[in-house]
Amino acid sequence: MLPERTERLRFREMTLTDLDHLADLLGDPGVMSFYPAPKSRSESREWIERMQERYTSDGHGLWIIETHDGEFIGDCGITWQSYNGIAVREVGYHVRADRQGRGYATEAASACVDLFRREFAPGLLTAIIHPRNDASRRVAEHLGMTRIADDRAHPWIVRTVMGLTVEAQAS
Ligand SMILES: CC(C)(COP(=O)(O)OP(=O)(O)OC[C@H]1O[C@@H](n2cnc3c(N)ncnc32)[C@H](O)[C@@H]1OP(=O)(O)O)[C@@H](O)C(=O)NCCC(=O)NCCS
Repeated sequence: MLPERTERLRFREMTLTDLDHLADLLGDPGVMSFYPAPKSRSESREWIERMQERYTSDGHGLWIIETHDGEFIGDCGITWQSYNGIAVREVGYHVRADRQGRGYATEAASACVDLFRREFAPGLLTAIIHPRNDASRRVAEHLGMTRIADDRAHPWIVRTVMGLTVEAQAS
């Protein structure tokens, strides 16, 4: 299962050969400013391995996003998450700092909405967002998501749950 390529981007599953790029991305304090801490190289390796387990168990996860000529941009995809104890599929994204602000996250996440429509609709797709992460909230809004709840299950922040009920494509 993979989203279709977009005007500028293509998706593929991540492998350990992506470790250099992903360790740079997930080790960047700016990119990780709404996470507890940037990831070390070994944590990035574990994260790739966890994503590979998700591909096998769930059929989806975060995928590498790259330009059509193979330039690494970041990751984007669909994972199982939960808010207030409710399991939901979430669209997630990380874009390398020097490529942000060009519409890449919105473009990639839109392809994930299309994939969700093909594979899982009708159903709820969410984005669970740190309350100060305005860029992520803007991406969710571009997808047509609206605030549906506050997640109070997290130990130290109340996260905003954005959601979109994705209808099946009319045939
Ligand atoms: C969230 C993120 C993926 C967006 O990537 P991107 O490719 O720059 O996103 P886009 O260019 O598609 O859109 C970004 C939107 O956020 C806005 N934005 C960017 N930085 C912003 C900021 N600091 N404050 C407010 N809005 C901001 C942009 O103006 C744009 O909105 P607009 O189209 O209405 O102008 C990127 O900022 C990132 O990787 N952040 C760190 C990782 C992260 O927090 N991921 C989400 C976890 S829930």
